[in-house]
Amino acid sequence: MAQATLNFPRGFLWGTATASHQVEGNNTNNNWYAWEQEPGRIRHGQKAGLACDWWGGRWREDFDRAAETHQNAHRLSVEWSRIQPAPDRWDEHALDRYREMLRGMLDRGITPMVTLHHFSDPIWLMEQGGWENPAVVTHFDRYVRKTVEALREYVTLWCTINEPNVYATSGYTSGDFPPGKHDINSTFRVLANMARGHAAAYHAIHEIQPQARAGTAIHYRSMKAAKSWFPLDGMVARQLSRLFNDAFMRPLMNGVMPTLLGRVRIPEAKGTQDYLGVNYYTRDLVSFNLLYANQLFGHRYYRPDAELSGTGFLAHEPEGMFEALKWALQFNVPIIITENGVEDAEDHLRPKSLVENLHQVWRAINFNWPIKGYFHWSLVDNFEWERGWTQRFGLWELDEATQARKKRPSVDLYAEICRNNAITSEAVAKYAPTVFGKMFPN
Ligand code: FCB
Repeated sequence: MAQATLNFPRGFLWGTATASHQVEGNNTNNNWYAWEQEPGRIRHGQKAGLACDWWGGRWREDFDRAAETHQNAHRLSVEWSRIQPAPDRWDEHALDRYREMLRGMLDRGITPMVTLHHFSDPIWLMEQGGWENPAVVTHFDRYVRKTVEALREYVTLWCTINEPNVYATSGYTSGDFPPGKHDINSTFRVLANMARGHAAAYHAIHEIQPQARAGTAIHYRSMKAAKSWFPLDGMVARQLSRLFNDAFMRPLMNGVMPTLLGRVRIPEAKGTQDYLGVNYYTRDLVSFNLLYANQLFGHRYYRPDAELSGTGFLAHEPEGMFEALKWALQFNVPIIITENGVEDAEDHLRPKSLVENLHQVWRAINFNWPIKGYFHWSLVDNFEWERGWTQRFGLWELDEATQARKKRPSVDLYAEICRNNAITSEAVAKYAPTVFGKMFPN
């Protein structure tokens, strides 16, 4: 049997990622709480409720788990609606609580990465039009300044906005997220305001903390023409990818955002990233189809023989990780994989998904691409937005009624990778034997 070690660079960040609304519990002052109260919005009418009860203190036991399994970093988000419960009010107790959590991380040898906006918004902000209203930029800037001042002692790695492209399209095109609109113009208005908000946050962070590293986490979805010989498939795949993957990123490069039919100038966004966070999950095939007018004539679907996650939500496509990193390279900044994972209650696919995705990361590193870290989604099962509790992304399983955690086999696999700073052939043979031959051909 091959003996091989796929090493990662010294100082590589190995962690997991979470988001406030998904893990804290008792968040009752944001748009997702309001959304959960509306019938038909969340699968089976489920609610975040106590979530993983981090606000009640269970972050301690979960950070213990992370540290004991050799993770050296964790990406969490802070909740705007807690820190600023009303436009004219800051909650110092909430900030104290976050300081305690971050100190708890550092005490355990875990480097924090803090996301300032991860899908959830204060209700008061949404009442003023949320991210459709240009006034959001000033509001976000104030909130970011307050938060960064308060947490600067513990954090230097900041993520301004998580997946602006998913926030804008899910909330304003498909309507799966609040506010549930179906309006392409609103989608681009939101995306442009998010780029402005990001730029304001970036500048604010650097004013307060010159040594900070700030960036965003973009959801990269690989899109491939279904029939390579058919030009229209290629055309719609490129157009969808340009709007979904590239639109938010362009102004960060050159100050101009492409929209459906035109462009918007956002000069203040130029050069506002110290790193790029990439969230990669899966890859689509795209074929031109007149029936999909509302999706710009692109029918997106998974490769028919691809292995699917528990509820069929994701296709296992590790090569798409390499494509995502190759795409990220054009922005000429260090790259961090800020999310990657799979929903898989039975832990059948996760071990394979972990090693095969990381194998692609390792390949990219061998081309000297500047990849600095990997955050697995997620540490423990948590509230999965409009899909509620039906999807299980955790390394640890959660019984949300009793709050009991149970280790899935992938925990030990990931622990070995983090501890060795490498994928060893032994670990693959032990935890993901079916991909051994593919990863280590004789
Ligand atoms: C990403 C989100 C994250 C989680 C994963 C599964 O799009 O950023 O909060 O829901 O998907």
